[in-house]
Amino acid sequence: MIDLILDKACFPMIDIAYQGFGDGLEEDAAPTRLVASQVPELLIAASCSKNFGIYRERTGLLMAISKDAADTPVTQGNLNHLNRQNFSFPPDHGARVVTKILTDPELKADWMAELE
Ligand SMILES: Cc1ncc(COP(=O)(O)O)c(C=O)c1O
Repeated sequence: MIDLILDKACFPMIDIAYQGFGDGLEEDAAPTRLVASQVPELLIAASCSKNFGIYRERTGLLMAISKDAADTPVTQGNLNHLNRQNFSFPPDHGARVVTKILTDPELKADWMAELE
């Protein structure tokens, strides 16, 4: 896939919605990391709906990877515009729950063990 993406100069978007449900958190992220290490520009959408069990909280992230850091303001501006058009100020309950879990070593270890 990476060869094809590079050969055709495609702009890939990876949807990683089930991280932790396959072979493990790190193992499931490996293909995405491999693409990100070799393809100059891409979007990665990651969902917390399944691996945190919070389907209705609309929690996840969109990561934009650019080949040049100078592109960041344009990319961020476009994402800000899309955000404003779509939902403006979404609830952040799910994001707060995920942040609390991922920034607390004990909660994070519990979550990882439960996911496994
Ligand atoms: C492959 C895939 N991508 C994305 C989503 C949507 O994720 P979210 O609940 O964060 O919108 C799903 C939901 O089931 C999915 O199966």
